[in-house]
Amino acid sequence: MNPGVRFRHYQEPDLSVCAGIGVEVFPLVTSRFTEKEVSKVMKGQIDSCHAVSNYCELAIADGEVAGLIFGRVKGRSVLIDICRTLKRLPPISVRFLLGMYGSRRKLLRFLNPCLEQLRVLRRNTPAGEAEVVLFAVAPKYQGIGVGRALMDRFVRHALRYRVKSISVPTDETASFWFYERYGFRRWAEFKDPLESYCAGRPIKGFIYQLLLPEADG
Ligand SMILES: CC(C)(COP(=O)(O)OP(=O)(O)OC[C@H]1O[C@@H](n2cnc3c(N)ncnc32)[C@H](O)[C@@H]1OP(=O)(O)O)[C@@H](O)C(=O)NCCC(=O)NCCS
Repeated sequence: MNPGVRFRHYQEPDLSVCAGIGVEVFPLVTSRFTEKEVSKVMKGQIDSCHAVSNYCELAIADGEVAGLIFGRVKGRSVLIDICRTLKRLPPISVRFLLGMYGSRRKLLRFLNPCLEQLRVLRRNTPAGEAEVVLFAVAPKYQGIGVGRALMDRFVRHALRYRVKSISVPTDETASFWFYERYGFRRWAEFKDPLESYCAGRPIKGFIYQLLLPEADG
């Protein structure tokens, strides 16, 4: 990987640029929205992922955001995590009500497929202790090791909490091959309700799992 790449925590002002990356790499998520709305919708997606994550890191290359990984690691204080999520929910609700994430009417149509997706994921996810919530590298920085470096750092972080496995939901339209290449194994396969709704055809969803070696000491 280019030695010029560095890493730092995600902060609120990074939202727009991260949404820009999301729009480029997850076209299906916003495919039912107009060009004017896609960035807003992706901001909502990223804010929601941020609300449920306790590990949010960016890769910076040439002074700009090259990639991001959000994740959740259990084993820290559950109470702190719940408080953090609760603190992040009111601003998200306000932005939703103000239409800052796009048309409320259109977004509400996603509610059922979203809830159905949550149910399917819960049924199919192994009882793990860490999860990748959001993972993307900007197209111009893909293929040079940025994704692997972001994942390596998340794995090291998880190991510090003595986590034994990491799981990740993905689907056939995403870069699921990354996980296979990295050493994850496919744990489950199902019809993804949300992606299928977005695509207007059945889309296969997957859960991948990475077993971690026992941490020393
Ligand atoms: C998945 C993603 C984050 C990977 O980031 P990246 O920086 O391009 O990945 P890297 O350059 O670190 O490559 C990682 C490995 O994948 C391999 N790889 C790259 N492109 C590949 C392809 N099209 N098919 C199979 N393997 C590929 C690389 O050879 C590398 O393996 P190696 O380290 O053993 O040589 C990026 O492709 C992405 O943003 N995809 C779109 C969003 C997405 O699908 N996110 C994840 C699913 S939710």
